[in-house]
Amino acid sequence: MTMGSERQPMAAPPGAAVPPGARWAAGGQAKRLDVDGLRSGYGRLTVLHDVDLHVEAGEALGVFGPNGAGKTTLLATIAGLLPTQSGTIVVGGTSLQRVAAHARVARGVVLVPEGRQVIGSLSVGANLDVMMLVRGRLTHDVEHRRRREEVLEMFPALRARLRVGASSLSGGEQQMLAIARALMCRPSVLLLDEPSQGLAPTVVELLADRLSQVKGTVTMVLVEQTENALLALADRRARMRMGRLEPATPTAQAE
Ligand SMILES: Nc1ncnc2c1ncn2[C@@H]1O[C@H](COP(=O)(O)OP(=O)(O)OP(=O)(O)O)[C@@H](O)[C@H]1O
Ligand SMILES: [Mg+2]
Repeated sequence: MTMGSERQPMAAPPGAAVPPGARWAAGGQAKRLDVDGLRSGYGRLTVLHDVDLHVEAGEALGVFGPNGAGKTTLLATIAGLLPTQSGTIVVGGTSLQRVAAHARVARGVVLVPEGRQVIGSLSVGANLDVMMLVRGRLTHDVEHRRRREEVLEMFPALRARLRVGASSLSGGEQQMLAIARALMCRPSVLLLDEPSQGLAPTVVELLADRLSQVKGTVTMVLVEQTENALLALADRRARMRMGRLEPATPTAQAE
Protein backbone atom coordinates (compact mmCIF):
# COMPACT_ATOMS: atom_id res chain seq x y z
CA MET A 1 0.00 0.00 0.00
CA THR A 2 1.22 3.47 -0.74
CA MET A 3 -1.53 5.49 0.82
CA GLY A 4 0.76 6.24 3.73
CA SER A 5 3.63 7.01 1.38
CA GLU A 6 5.97 9.75 2.45
CA ARG A 7 6.77 10.75 -1.11
CA GLN A 8 5.89 14.34 -1.79
CA PRO A 9 3.84 15.55 -4.77
CA MET A 10 6.12 16.54 -7.59
CA ALA A 11 6.73 20.23 -8.16
CA ALA A 12 8.56 20.17 -11.46
CA PRO A 13 8.79 23.41 -13.47
CA PRO A 14 6.83 23.34 -16.75
CA GLY A 15 8.72 21.45 -19.41
CA ALA A 16 11.00 19.62 -17.00
CA ALA A 17 10.99 15.86 -16.68
CA VAL A 18 9.48 14.52 -13.49
CA PRO A 19 12.33 13.58 -11.16
CA PRO A 20 12.60 9.85 -10.44
CA GLY A 21 10.73 8.90 -7.28
CA ALA A 22 8.48 11.96 -7.39
CA ARG A 23 4.75 11.50 -7.11
CA TRP A 24 2.25 12.62 -9.69
CA ALA A 25 0.50 15.62 -8.19
CA ALA A 26 -2.37 15.58 -10.66
CA GLY A 27 -3.93 12.40 -9.30
CA GLY A 28 -5.57 11.97 -5.95
CA GLN A 29 -9.12 11.01 -6.90
CA ALA A 30 -8.63 7.30 -6.43
CA LYS A 31 -11.78 5.28 -5.81
CA ARG A 32 -12.36 1.84 -4.40
CA LEU A 33 -13.19 -0.93 -6.90
CA ASP A 34 -15.40 -3.85 -5.90
CA VAL A 35 -16.18 -6.69 -8.28
CA ASP A 36 -18.36 -9.52 -6.99
CA GLY A 37 -19.47 -12.76 -8.61
CA LEU A 38 -18.59 -11.49 -12.06
CA ARG A 39 -19.44 -13.66 -15.04
CA SER A 40 -18.70 -12.40 -18.49
CA GLY A 41 -17.74 -13.60 -21.93
CA TYR A 42 -18.63 -13.44 -25.56
CA GLY A 43 -22.22 -14.07 -26.59
CA ARG A 44 -23.31 -17.27 -24.90
CA LEU A 45 -19.73 -18.23 -24.06
CA THR A 46 -18.84 -17.61 -20.41
CA VAL A 47 -15.12 -16.86 -19.92
CA LEU A 48 -15.07 -15.33 -16.43
CA HIS A 49 -16.52 -17.48 -13.67
CA ASP A 50 -17.58 -15.78 -10.44
CA VAL A 51 -14.67 -13.40 -10.22
CA ASP A 52 -14.33 -11.41 -6.99
CA LEU A 53 -11.87 -8.54 -6.91
CA HIS A 54 -11.53 -5.82 -4.31
CA VAL A 55 -9.05 -2.96 -4.64
CA GLU A 56 -8.84 -0.19 -2.07
CA ALA A 57 -8.70 3.44 -3.18
CA GLY A 58 -5.11 4.12 -4.24
CA GLU A 59 -4.08 0.49 -4.11
CA ALA A 60 -2.42 -1.33 -7.03
CA LEU A 61 -3.55 -4.89 -7.71
CA GLY A 62 -1.53 -7.06 -10.06
CA VAL A 63 -3.26 -9.82 -12.02
CA PHE A 64 -1.16 -12.37 -13.83
CA GLY A 65 -1.91 -15.48 -15.80
CA PRO A 66 -1.18 -17.28 -19.07
CA ASN A 67 -2.62 -16.69 -22.54
CA GLY A 68 -6.35 -17.15 -22.58
CA ALA A 69 -6.76 -16.95 -18.79
CA GLY A 70 -9.33 -14.17 -19.15
CA LYS A 71 -7.29 -11.12 -18.14
CA THR A 72 -8.37 -8.96 -21.08
CA THR A 73 -11.95 -10.16 -20.68
CA LEU A 74 -11.85 -9.04 -17.04
CA LEU A 75 -10.55 -5.54 -17.79
CA ALA A 76 -12.85 -5.12 -20.81
CA THR A 77 -15.85 -6.05 -18.66
CA ILE A 78 -14.90 -3.57 -15.92
CA ALA A 79 -14.44 -0.92 -18.63
CA GLY A 80 -17.89 -1.72 -20.02
CA LEU A 81 -16.68 -2.96 -23.40
CA LEU A 82 -18.19 -6.38 -22.69
CA PRO A 83 -21.57 -6.90 -21.01
CA THR A 84 -21.80 -8.45 -17.57
CA GLN A 85 -23.58 -11.81 -17.62
CA SER A 86 -24.02 -11.69 -13.85
CA GLY A 87 -22.36 -10.13 -10.82
CA THR A 88 -21.62 -6.53 -9.90
CA ILE A 89 -18.98 -3.89 -10.60
CA VAL A 90 -18.97 -1.02 -8.10
CA VAL A 91 -16.62 1.98 -8.16
CA GLY A 92 -16.51 4.34 -5.21
CA GLY A 93 -19.71 2.78 -3.90
CA THR A 94 -21.64 3.36 -7.14
CA SER A 95 -22.74 0.47 -9.36
CA LEU A 96 -21.63 0.63 -13.00
CA GLN A 97 -24.38 -1.80 -13.99
CA ARG A 98 -26.23 0.62 -16.26
CA VAL A 99 -23.30 2.83 -17.18
CA ALA A 100 -22.12 2.63 -20.80
CA ALA A 101 -18.41 2.31 -21.62
CA HIS A 102 -17.95 5.96 -22.63
CA ALA A 103 -19.73 7.13 -19.49
CA ARG A 104 -17.43 4.94 -17.38
CA VAL A 105 -14.44 6.83 -18.82
CA ALA A 106 -16.09 10.10 -17.83
CA ARG A 107 -16.47 8.65 -14.32
CA GLY A 108 -12.77 7.91 -14.22
CA VAL A 109 -12.70 4.21 -15.10
CA VAL A 110 -10.07 4.22 -17.82
CA LEU A 111 -8.50 1.34 -19.76
CA VAL A 112 -5.03 1.25 -21.27
CA PRO A 113 -5.86 -1.51 -23.75
CA GLU A 114 -3.81 -4.51 -24.75
CA GLY A 115 -1.70 -3.67 -27.79
CA ARG A 116 -1.84 0.11 -27.03
CA GLN A 117 -4.45 0.89 -29.68
CA VAL A 118 -3.29 4.42 -30.33
CA ILE A 119 -4.87 6.04 -33.41
CA GLY A 120 -2.04 5.64 -35.90
CA SER A 121 -3.45 8.03 -38.50
CA LEU A 122 -3.59 10.91 -36.00
CA SER A 123 -0.67 12.87 -34.61
CA VAL A 124 0.60 12.20 -31.11
CA GLY A 125 -0.92 15.51 -29.97
CA ALA A 126 -4.28 14.66 -31.52
CA ASN A 127 -4.27 11.29 -29.72
CA LEU A 128 -4.03 13.24 -26.48
CA ASP A 129 -6.56 15.85 -27.60
CA VAL A 130 -9.31 13.36 -28.39
CA MET A 131 -9.60 12.84 -24.65
CA MET A 132 -11.10 16.33 -24.45
CA LEU A 133 -14.29 14.67 -25.61
CA VAL A 134 -14.50 12.89 -22.26
CA ARG A 135 -15.04 16.33 -20.70
CA GLY A 136 -17.40 17.35 -23.49
CA ARG A 137 -14.99 19.91 -24.93
CA LEU A 138 -14.17 20.51 -28.60
CA THR A 139 -11.50 23.17 -28.13
CA HIS A 140 -8.52 23.44 -25.82
CA ASP A 141 -9.24 25.09 -22.50
CA VAL A 142 -6.99 25.84 -19.55
CA GLU A 143 -7.77 22.52 -17.91
CA HIS A 144 -6.96 20.60 -21.07
CA ARG A 145 -3.65 22.42 -21.52
CA ARG A 146 -2.79 21.74 -17.88
CA ARG A 147 -3.45 18.03 -18.24
CA ARG A 148 -1.50 17.86 -21.49
CA GLU A 149 1.44 19.59 -19.83
CA GLU A 150 1.31 17.15 -16.94
CA VAL A 151 1.50 14.05 -19.13
CA LEU A 152 4.22 15.58 -21.31
CA GLU A 153 6.26 16.27 -18.18
CA MET A 154 5.90 12.61 -17.37
CA PHE A 155 6.81 11.47 -20.89
CA PRO A 156 9.17 14.06 -22.44
CA ALA A 157 9.77 11.72 -25.40
CA LEU A 158 6.21 12.47 -26.50
CA ARG A 159 6.70 16.22 -26.38
CA ALA A 160 9.37 15.95 -29.06
CA ARG A 161 7.02 13.91 -31.24
CA LEU A 162 3.75 15.80 -30.78
CA ARG A 163 3.24 16.53 -34.47
CA VAL A 164 4.25 13.19 -35.92
CA GLY A 165 1.80 10.42 -36.71
CA ALA A 166 1.30 8.03 -33.83
CA SER A 167 1.95 5.08 -36.16
CA SER A 168 5.55 6.26 -36.57
CA LEU A 169 6.27 5.92 -32.85
CA SER A 170 8.23 2.97 -31.50
CA GLY A 171 6.33 0.37 -29.52
CA GLY A 172 7.59 1.87 -26.27
CA GLU A 173 6.57 5.37 -27.30
CA GLN A 174 3.14 4.11 -28.32
CA GLN A 175 2.74 2.55 -24.89
CA MET A 176 3.77 5.85 -23.29
CA LEU A 177 1.14 7.57 -25.46
CA ALA A 178 -1.52 5.03 -24.47
CA ILE A 179 -0.76 5.64 -20.78
CA ALA A 180 -0.57 9.42 -21.27
CA ARG A 181 -3.91 9.36 -23.11
CA ALA A 182 -5.48 7.52 -20.17
CA LEU A 183 -3.99 9.95 -17.64
CA MET A 184 -5.51 12.86 -19.59
CA CYS A 185 -8.84 11.63 -18.19
CA ARG A 186 -7.64 12.02 -14.59
CA PRO A 187 -8.62 8.43 -13.85
CA SER A 188 -9.85 7.22 -10.49
CA VAL A 189 -9.46 3.60 -11.58
CA LEU A 190 -6.73 2.82 -14.11
CA LEU A 191 -6.87 -0.56 -15.86
CA LEU A 192 -3.62 -1.55 -17.60
CA ASP A 193 -3.66 -4.55 -19.94
CA GLU A 194 -0.15 -5.98 -20.43
CA PRO A 195 1.64 -2.63 -20.80
CA SER A 196 5.01 -4.42 -21.03
CA GLN A 197 3.98 -6.52 -24.04
CA GLY A 198 6.74 -6.63 -26.64
CA LEU A 199 8.88 -3.95 -25.00
CA ALA A 200 12.60 -3.97 -24.21
CA PRO A 201 13.53 -4.30 -20.50
CA THR A 202 14.81 -0.71 -20.36
CA VAL A 203 11.46 0.61 -21.62
CA VAL A 204 9.61 -1.60 -19.14
CA GLU A 205 11.74 -0.10 -16.36
CA LEU A 206 10.90 3.42 -17.56
CA LEU A 207 7.19 2.58 -17.55
CA ALA A 208 7.55 1.06 -14.08
CA ASP A 209 9.16 4.29 -12.88
CA ARG A 210 6.39 6.46 -14.35
CA LEU A 211 3.62 4.24 -13.04
CA SER A 212 5.25 4.32 -9.62
CA GLN A 213 4.76 8.11 -9.72
CA VAL A 214 1.08 7.60 -10.43
CA LYS A 215 0.67 4.85 -7.87
CA GLY A 216 -1.32 5.82 -4.82
CA THR A 217 -3.04 8.67 -6.66
CA VAL A 218 -5.25 6.29 -8.64
CA THR A 219 -6.55 2.78 -8.04
CA MET A 220 -4.74 0.43 -10.41
CA VAL A 221 -5.41 -3.00 -11.82
CA LEU A 222 -2.26 -4.05 -13.62
CA VAL A 223 -2.42 -7.13 -15.83
CA GLU A 224 0.68 -8.97 -16.98
CA GLN A 225 1.32 -12.50 -18.20
CA THR A 226 4.21 -13.12 -15.83
CA GLU A 227 5.61 -11.56 -12.70
CA ASN A 228 7.92 -8.82 -13.98
CA ALA A 229 9.23 -5.34 -13.14
CA LEU A 230 5.81 -3.80 -13.66
CA LEU A 231 4.00 -6.30 -11.52
CA ALA A 232 6.49 -5.49 -8.76
CA LEU A 233 4.56 -2.21 -8.40
CA ALA A 234 1.49 -4.04 -7.21
CA ASP A 235 0.64 -3.99 -3.51
CA ARG A 236 -1.08 -7.35 -3.94
CA ARG A 237 -1.15 -9.88 -6.76
CA ALA A 238 -3.66 -12.47 -7.86
CA ARG A 239 -3.26 -15.28 -10.35
CA MET A 240 -5.88 -15.82 -13.02
CA ARG A 241 -6.41 -19.28 -14.46
CA MET A 242 -9.11 -20.48 -16.82
CA GLY A 243 -11.40 -17.56 -16.07
CA ARG A 244 -11.08 -17.77 -12.31
CA LEU A 245 -9.20 -15.35 -10.11
CA GLU A 246 -7.37 -16.76 -7.10
CA PRO A 247 -7.36 -14.72 -3.86
CA ALA A 248 -4.81 -11.88 -3.92
CA THR A 249 -1.73 -12.06 -1.72
CA PRO A 250 0.52 -9.19 -0.63
CA THR A 251 3.41 -8.74 -3.04
CA ALA A 252 6.08 -9.17 -0.37
CA GLN A 253 4.75 -12.61 0.54
CA ALA A 254 4.33 -13.66 -3.09
CA GLU A 255 8.10 -13.76 -3.70
N1 LIG B 1 -13.90 -12.00 -29.23
C1 LIG B 1 -13.89 -13.22 -28.67
N2 LIG B 1 -14.84 -14.13 -28.99
C2 LIG B 1 -14.87 -15.36 -28.43
N3 LIG B 1 -13.98 -15.77 -27.50
C3 LIG B 1 -13.01 -14.92 -27.14
C4 LIG B 1 -12.93 -13.59 -27.69
N4 LIG B 1 -11.86 -12.96 -27.13
C5 LIG B 1 -11.32 -13.85 -26.27
N5 LIG B 1 -12.01 -15.01 -26.28
C6 LIG B 1 -11.71 -16.18 -25.46
O1 LIG B 1 -11.78 -15.83 -24.09
C7 LIG B 1 -10.77 -16.50 -23.35
C8 LIG B 1 -9.98 -15.46 -22.56
O2 LIG B 1 -9.34 -14.57 -23.46
P1 LIG B 1 -8.59 -13.26 -22.97
O3 LIG B 1 -8.23 -12.49 -24.18
O4 LIG B 1 -9.42 -12.59 -21.93
O5 LIG B 1 -7.30 -13.89 -22.28
P2 LIG B 1 -5.99 -13.16 -21.76
O6 LIG B 1 -5.75 -13.69 -20.38
O7 LIG B 1 -6.11 -11.71 -21.91
O8 LIG B 1 -4.88 -13.73 -22.74
P3 LIG B 1 -3.54 -13.04 -23.32
O9 LIG B 1 -2.49 -13.19 -22.25
O10 LIG B 1 -3.23 -13.85 -24.54
O11 LIG B 1 -3.86 -11.62 -23.64
C9 LIG B 1 -9.94 -17.27 -24.34
O12 LIG B 1 -10.37 -18.61 -24.32
C10 LIG B 1 -10.29 -16.64 -25.68
O13 LIG B 1 -10.23 -17.58 -26.71
MG1 LIG C 1 -5.09 -10.31 -22.96
